[in-house]
Formats: sequence, C-alpha cells, structure tokens
Amino acid sequence: MSKCLVCQNEISPFISFGKMPLANGFLTQDQFKEEYFFEMKVAHCSKCNMVQLTEQPTKELMFNEHYAFYSGTSRAMDQHFEQFAQHVISDYINSDNPFVVEIGSNDGIMLKNFKKANIRHLGIEPSENVAAVARGNGINTISKFFNKELAEEIIKEYGKADAFLAANVMCHIPYMHSVVDGIKTLLKPNGIVMFEDPYWGDVIEKVSYDQIYDEHVFLFSVQSIKYLFEQHDMEVVDVEPQETHGGSMRYVIAHKGARKISENVHKQIKKEIALGLHLPETYVTFKKNCEASRDKLKSILVQLKNEGKRVVGYAATSKSTTILNYCDIGSDLIEFICDTTPIKQGKYSPGKHVPIKPYEEFKKDYPDYALLFAYNHAKEILAKEEEFKKMNKKWIMYVPKIGIK
Ligand code: SAH
Ligand code: TYD
Ligand code: ZN
Repeated sequence: MSKCLVCQNEISPFISFGKMPLANGFLTQDQFKEEYFFEMKVAHCSKCNMVQLTEQPTKELMFNEHYAFYSGTSRAMDQHFEQFAQHVISDYINSDNPFVVEIGSNDGIMLKNFKKANIRHLGIEPSENVAAVARGNGINTISKFFNKELAEEIIKEYGKADAFLAANVMCHIPYMHSVVDGIKTLLKPNGIVMFEDPYWGDVIEKVSYDQIYDEHVFLFSVQSIKYLFEQHDMEVVDVEPQETHGGSMRYVIAHKGARKISENVHKQIKKEIALGLHLPETYVTFKKNCEASRDKLKSILVQLKNEGKRVVGYAATSKSTTILNYCDIGSDLIEFICDTTPIKQGKYSPGKHVPIKPYEEFKKDYPDYALLFAYNHAKEILAKEEEFKKMNKKWIMYVPKIGIK
C-alpha cells in the first residue's frame, strides 16, 4: 500500500512491469555495472482517478545535463508546436505586452514561435544540455525545476503570466500540488493554462503500455485532472484530443469562474466513464492485455530469429525501454537500434544493452525487418522509408495492433 500523490487515499498497484532502468538512461559499457533500476508498478486511485507509479527515480537522476531527449528530432512535432503556439496567440492572448511561461521547454521547439512573434516568454528547463540549445537560439530559458517557490521568483522578475504552457512534462512531476499552487499564483486573473500529455484513455484502448516509464509518474485523464485542479480553485474549461505521442489530451484550464466551460469537457468525461476508467475491472483487463501483447511481440521476434532473419529496432525512444525490458528483448533478438539523436549513438539501450547506432547504419544495409519503436511518428517515418518498403522489407508494429506490415 502507498498513498495517492494527489488525494492521499490508500492505493495499491494493479500491475508490476518488473525491474526497470531509466528510460532515457542510454549508457556506455563501463557504466553497465552501476546501472540504476527500480520496480515499476502502477496504481489507480479509486477516489480521484489518478493513475500513477508507486515508485519513481529522483528528478535529478532523470533530468540533468545529459538528458537524451531533444524535442526537435521530429518534423511533425515541430509543426505540431507551431500550431499549438498559433492557437494560444490567436485565441487566448489579448493583453498589451503579454507574457508566456512554458515548463519543460526543452530545446525551444514551442517557444521559438513566441520569440518569432515578439512575445515576452520564459522557458523553464532543468536539463542543461537541451536548455543550452534553446538559449543558443535566443530563447529566454532558465534551468530550474518548476514549483511554487520558482513561480514567486518569476512574478518578482517578470510579473504575472497570460499563458502557462506545458507539453509532455506535467505528467513527469510528482509534487503536483506545489506545481498547481505555483500555476495559480503565476497566472493573471484571466490567464490561461494549456498543457498536453499522453492520454490514459488511449493507453487503455490501444494497450500502448510503453507510455508507462520512469518519467511518466502520472497517466492523466480528464477526470483526474479535473479533481487535481479543483483542489486549487481552478477548473478545466476545455479539452482538445491530440494525435501526438500515440494519443494525447490537451487540457485548457482557468481560474474558477473566469471562463465558460465547454461541452467537450462533459463529453470526454462521459467517454471515460463508458471506457470504465474509474472501474477496478478495467485494470484487471489492462494487465491481461499487456501480458498478451508482450507474449505476442516476443514470439514474433523469436520466430524471425529462428528463421534467420535480420531484425533492427527503429528509433531509440523512451518508450522502447519499457518494451525491451518488460518483454525481455535483447541483442539476441534485435541487432541494434538506429536513431538520429547524436547523444544516443554509440551507446547502449537502458537495461537490455542493445547497441544504438546512427540512422545511416540502417540505410546502409537494410535488415529484413524493422521494429518501429516510434509508432507515434509512423506517418513521418513510413513516408521517409519508402525505399525500405520497395525492397520488400517489413515493419513490425505493436501499437495500435501487433503485426507485420
Ligand atoms: N515539451 C517538450 C519536452 C518534453 S520532455 C516536448 O514536448 O517535446 C520533458 C522535459 O521536461 C524535459 O526536457 C525535462 O528536463 C523537463 N522537466 C522535467 N521536470 C521538470 C520540472 N519540474 N519543471 C520544468 N521542466 C521539467
Ligand atoms: P519519440 O516518440 O518522441 O520518443 P519518446 O518515446 O522518447 O517520447 O521519438 C523520438 C526518438 O525517435 C528520438 O530518439 C529520435 C528518434 N527518431 C528517429 O530516429 N528517426 C525519426 O525519423 C524520428 C521521427 C525520430
Ligand atoms: Zn487519489
């Protein structure tokens, strides 16, 4: 038993994925012996509906000057964040001299659009290496972890914010009450909060359990976010489903009573109830679905190995760490994983130690099969890899369905 990070209710895990390393902990051979592991277990809180890890590595272990995830590696995400920024600018910003704060701003993929529009902005990005890329491009960035105290410091220096933005970072932060307190203090009376994260409803429906890894301490739903913000006198005024990261949800939040609540919020909650996100039996089924998905993927790889086929992993995503470790897939089954991120290349995958090679290694000598770990970028990648397909090579997919394509 442990306590819910949001409402303090007693919770107990419905699944354990076993020992897991840091999802972005790509390492060199001499670091193998001191590799960090924790038991990755997930619980659902029956009171506030928050789905959460019951144990998580410290934030400094995950987010530091060696952080391996650079947002700017996907063209589609670049376009996504340009549209996100335009939406904020045209629909939500109307004061003189507006001020926008983004947490988890990484290499500046979103804020560069505000810079271009000459809007005062501040990025909060604790991982120094990715923050340095943003600063190099003239994006105002500080390397700290966001919380209530930092919000107060920001107000002293810049004043209150018209918009508070976050993408794929709110779900990383366990001390949510300090964060929401900070947001509440920082936001102007008519200010807007917009953040998006992988959506738990999609994970349940698609059995995309690889969205569960160390950094994702929370798997959000509209119901759990509504509960959390209501504790701080704020309310969800709109929700906007997104296709990114295999299915995400954008939450639009304001001070209580400041804005009209869209019908979308009620509609989405109805969908969540129909999906059974509040019911214990949903979690029993989800566990069975994860096990079945794991067994099927593993058996495909074992069969291909027995047939003497060459299989390579495509994109060393954070998500792939959960797949490789939970399914027990090592370099006996996949030769290497190719990836375009320089900091990952020449290293080994966390836990299973599959070599990570530059993308060019994939192109140089196509394998018979490529296991697509970045299925969320399938459109972009499949379009780029037409030649692979023309040569009668095949993709192995596991979300939304396991199979060969
Ligand atoms: N927003 C980007 C990056 C997401 S990765 C995108 O969607 O592509 C998550 C980022 O959040 C990392 O760069 C990490 O360093 C940062 N982060 C983690 N904890 C944080 C915190 N408490 N405050 C601000 N940023 C944080
Ligand atoms: P993403 O799904 O955003 O990763 P995560 O699971 O960590 O959120 O994918 C980003 C990774 O995929 C990054 O390591 C770069 C790699 N990648 C490629 O190697 N080639 C590509 O064409 C794309 C789009 C991504
Ligand atoms: Zn709870």
